[in-house]
Amino acid sequence: MKFLLIILIVINLILFFLLKRKELKSFFIKQKIEKIDISNIHKSFLLIKHSKNLYGPKDDALIKSFNISPNNKIIGMTSDYEAWIISTLSKFSNSIFEFGTCSGKTTFLMALNSPKNSKIISLTLKSEQISLIEKNSNDNKIAHRNAISESIYEKFLFSGHEVENKITVLFENSLNFNEQKFLEKFDLIFIDGGHTYSIVKNDTEKALKMIKKNGIILWHDYVPGKTSSKDIVRYLEEFSKKNKLYNIRNTSLCYFKK
Ligand SMILES: C[S@@+](CC[C@H](N)C(=O)[O-])C[C@H]1O[C@@H](n2cnc3c(N)ncnc32)[C@H](O)[C@@H]1O
Repeated sequence: MKFLLIILIVINLILFFLLKRKELKSFFIKQKIEKIDISNIHKSFLLIKHSKNLYGPKDDALIKSFNISPNNKIIGMTSDYEAWIISTLSKFSNSIFEFGTCSGKTTFLMALNSPKNSKIISLTLKSEQISLIEKNSNDNKIAHRNAISESIYEKFLFSGHEVENKITVLFENSLNFNEQKFLEKFDLIFIDGGHTYSIVKNDTEKALKMIKKNGIILWHDYVPGKTSSKDIVRYLEEFSKKNKLYNIRNTSLCYFKK
């Protein structure tokens, strides 16, 4: 009887752990980057009051968008909420740079929502270039493996669409990318390329030189406790000690304004 009771307790503990894994992780793992509300990063996110209990988006935050069905197994995407934030900021950005194109979901949204004459450059790798993704001894194994498995697209969600003419895709290793001809050129930079420590550090250092005064840099996948985000978390938490970096509440996006 005593034995059965112990087994039941153990089973319950295992079930509790499995069901509440995320909550338990966030309870034990404290993020070191301060959170910020979207209404504090751009005025377009301020809400309008419809009634005592209903607030909604302003016209500035209405965007052109599309949905990807879960059956369409596209990898490496932002969540819909994150995509809406990036799309809204794109409405006010004439020059945009993205590290990591993948399927081109975010690139497409940037192009759909940015001003008519805007230009977007997205840097990425295709499968025949995966040998270029070297692993530094300091780099997380899973992040390195993901960089390889996400380098599979040569055509993108925006291919053939009229906004494609706003976009230039560069198939080049960001570690070799020369940022010198793009100094202080961009209003918005999205860092979502390789997630290893050495690549995030490289992409951030280049982005800081490429961003205009008052421009915005966003990083994707700041998720403390998630194995594949380990290097991003480590690098950004180091970076936040010397720079005003914020995590946008309810997202994995980090935000910096020059
Ligand atoms: C997470 S996916 C990008 C997702 C995309 N930004 C989106 O929102 O849909 C990562 C991309 O980074 C690219 N990548 C990884 N390491 C890279 C490197 N060293 N240089 C350039 N691109 C790299 C991969 O080829 C892949 O396309």
